[in-house]
Amino acid sequence: MEGGGGEPAGAAGCRGGGAGLHVGLLAGREWESPAAALARSLACGARAAVRALKSSWGFFLTGIVGGTLVAVYAVATPFLTPALRKICLPFVPATTKQIANVVKMLHCRRGSLVDIGSGDGRVVIAAAKEGFTAVGYELNPWLVWYSRYHAWREGVQDSAKFYISDLWKVTFSQYTNVVVFGVPQMMPQLEEKLELELKDDARVIACRFPFPRWTPDHVTGEGVDTVWAYDLSTLRGRRP
Ligand SMILES: C[S@@+](CC[C@H](N)C(=O)[O-])C[C@H]1O[C@@H](n2cnc3c(N)ncnc32)[C@H](O)[C@@H]1O
Repeated sequence: MEGGGGEPAGAAGCRGGGAGLHVGLLAGREWESPAAALARSLACGARAAVRALKSSWGFFLTGIVGGTLVAVYAVATPFLTPALRKICLPFVPATTKQIANVVKMLHCRRGSLVDIGSGDGRVVIAAAKEGFTAVGYELNPWLVWYSRYHAWREGVQDSAKFYISDLWKVTFSQYTNVVVFGVPQMMPQLEEKLELELKDDARVIACRFPFPRWTPDHVTGEGVDTVWAYDLSTLRGRRP
């Protein structure tokens, strides 16, 4: 006999004569042959296994989807949050020409260099290859980790260092070469900060957007690749 009318389909065959084999009445009582009992228990076990498999796949899929969402959120958040800040400074990498122009402005200079908002580390790495002890400060941890890996791959991990820091909380007084690829809204405030902190022998190189008050000593490149170089000694009317 098949299971009772109200029973779930999966349970039906577990109670009686799953395959309809040799189930009948013996002396007025329900009787089942051993073969039928074996077939029923095999079918029953198979159904239970399929149910278990379905439910573990459900868990597995839920885990994969949930994990993927968490990972996407964790990676995307640092790239999206700049848009929510008072000054939005997104990750826009320097072009190859822009970097070449920065390197040109560093000709005959040496010592320490900082890239303010170092992105994926390309400026810092280019400077390290030119012999500078170069440092990048960057708010986005993914970019900092990538920069460290990039520096290691390029073989300049000893002279190119990266820190997860907010540029407004770092003091730049120890650097003699400062590079920034910012946005126009931040330039007046950064100009004031650098003027207060930097020593007379410092050179500041601004990419794409110039400082509003300072007069540059040198300008090179054109369009989006333009860079401006400012010597603090000139701005202050002093010899370094
Ligand atoms: C325009 S990108 C320049 C990237 C790199 N300097 C280059 O030239 O390729 C500006 C970078 O500044 C970072 N940034 C934004 N706000 C910051 C902050 N408060 N402190 C440090 N870095 C910041 C962004 O994540 C972005 O990577």
